[in-house]
Amino acid sequence: PPDPAAAFKEQAAIAAAALVEDGMAVGLGTGSTARFVVAELGRRVREEGLRIRAIPTSIVTEKQAREVGIPLSTFAQTPALDIAIDGADEIEPRSLNLIKGLGGALLWEKIVASAAARFVIVADASKYVDHLGAHCPLPVEVIPFGWENVARKLGALGAQVTPRRQRDGSFFLTDEKNLILDCVFGPIMNPDALSTALAETVGVVEHGLFLHMASQTITAGPDGLRVLEP
Ligand code: A5P
Repeated sequence: PPDPAAAFKEQAAIAAAALVEDGMAVGLGTGSTARFVVAELGRRVREEGLRIRAIPTSIVTEKQAREVGIPLSTFAQTPALDIAIDGADEIEPRSLNLIKGLGGALLWEKIVASAAARFVIVADASKYVDHLGAHCPLPVEVIPFGWENVARKLGALGAQVTPRRQRDGSFFLTDEKNLILDCVFGPIMNPDALSTALAETVGVVEHGLFLHMASQTITAGPDGLRVLEP
């Protein structure tokens, strides 16, 4: 079905892609908004001769980057990125704290974001929330072994926990072959404390709270383009 927010996502994506300059090392996000960023950067590489090298945050994005002609790199060759541009599922506009991972790519996304001097978020304006957790479950990536016990521990932290499944009922597996536990906490009043508790839970690989990481959010909606910095 057509995405009613697609035009806004594309508008935000094109504004963010314009921040990329010749010679930069760029982190490429994952999801329906980041897709527009990759497409626009590919266009700039082909039509403007923009020279960049990029590290993708998922196998899906890697494939798209190859298709549009963006040269790829690895952390072996490129330890630091000038900029990473990615989508988000929820944005808390005062702190620019985020929930990410509804697409399942949060682990590579967080590794790429944390290697970048600037982490720019692109989204349509529907992603703003007063408190993280208001609309979305918090995705938590866990090792398959013993996931049932990890789920119990996350339940004890206050979440309703559902392992993510594919349409055929089998478990959704991340690019690292881990599971995602979708955790409904309701509005998260103390994201820093929750982030620490999750990180201390054995079996958790990473979680979708991206706190104090975004340098800028670029959103588009009926009221136009909006740029926020923390
Ligand atoms: C992927 O794992 C996610 O973190 C995405 O960045 C997030 O889901 C945003 O995706 P959309 O741009 O499709 O909403």
